[in-house]
Amino acid sequence: MHLPSLLALGLPAVASATRLFTNHGTTSGWSNSYKEHKGEILQVPKVVKSGPTALKMTQTYDPSYTGLYHAEVHAYNAYSHGDERAYGFWFRLPKDWEFTPDQGFNIAQFIAQFPGMCDEWMPSTMIWVSERTLWTRRKYGSLCPSTSQKTKSINTGRNVTAGVWHKVVVQAKWVPDDSGYFRLWYDGEKVVDEAGVPTTIAEDMPFQFRVGLYANSWNKGYKGNQPFRQVWFDEIAFGTELRDADTR
Ligand SMILES: *[C@@H]1O[C@H](CO)[C@@H](O)[C@H](O)[C@H]1NC(C)=O
Repeated sequence: MHLPSLLALGLPAVASATRLFTNHGTTSGWSNSYKEHKGEILQVPKVVKSGPTALKMTQTYDPSYTGLYHAEVHAYNAYSHGDERAYGFWFRLPKDWEFTPDQGFNIAQFIAQFPGMCDEWMPSTMIWVSERTLWTRRKYGSLCPSTSQKTKSINTGRNVTAGVWHKVVVQAKWVPDDSGYFRLWYDGEKVVDEAGVPTTIAEDMPFQFRVGLYANSWNKGYKGNQPFRQVWFDEIAFGTELRDADTR
């Protein structure tokens, strides 16, 4: 069809997706990265989803350490109020991963800084594996006091398997009122589909998208028999349309 006829039909002349970020499993190309204590952020060969390398994040539990256990890479400006965006990444747990009861390991999150506010760094949506099960959440309400922050945790109903690559895609319209939507696909299957819901807090700051291992149960109470944890990540992307969540 010729462009003039599209215009004559009143269709948008430009309906192209915009890829905003892509990473093929390298430590370079990120806005920032951050690891705490014995955490590592490594670019590794062999265990890859595609291409020559993937990212591997590790964390090691230390009973004498009282801080947090982040090992994450950060992509800035991943959303602001009103944005409709899609995000995708692959992750892989090692074959011998211990699925520990009452222990969650966060693998991706959206977070913004609110300088001088009651909660300076506030994560909105997070994605984590709790024992075997993949969970996510919506965050809404307002930032301060922190009791006015609302969190809806969402059980995807899917159990993660170890030693194989899994794909996560999130698509959202990020708004603090009831005009939002929030969807999550796990290995190509839509497992979360919420519409007419708030998806972020009232305060509008640019949120980062982070992937990596954040062992956020450990600082609340370590359990199990696997103090060294590692997770691989590869082919991370986001943009304005669903297809922008795939790197190719
Ligand atoms: C997921 O694993 C838990 C045990 O960790 C089990 O109770 C549950 O039935 C499993 N769910 C599915 C859908 O396989």
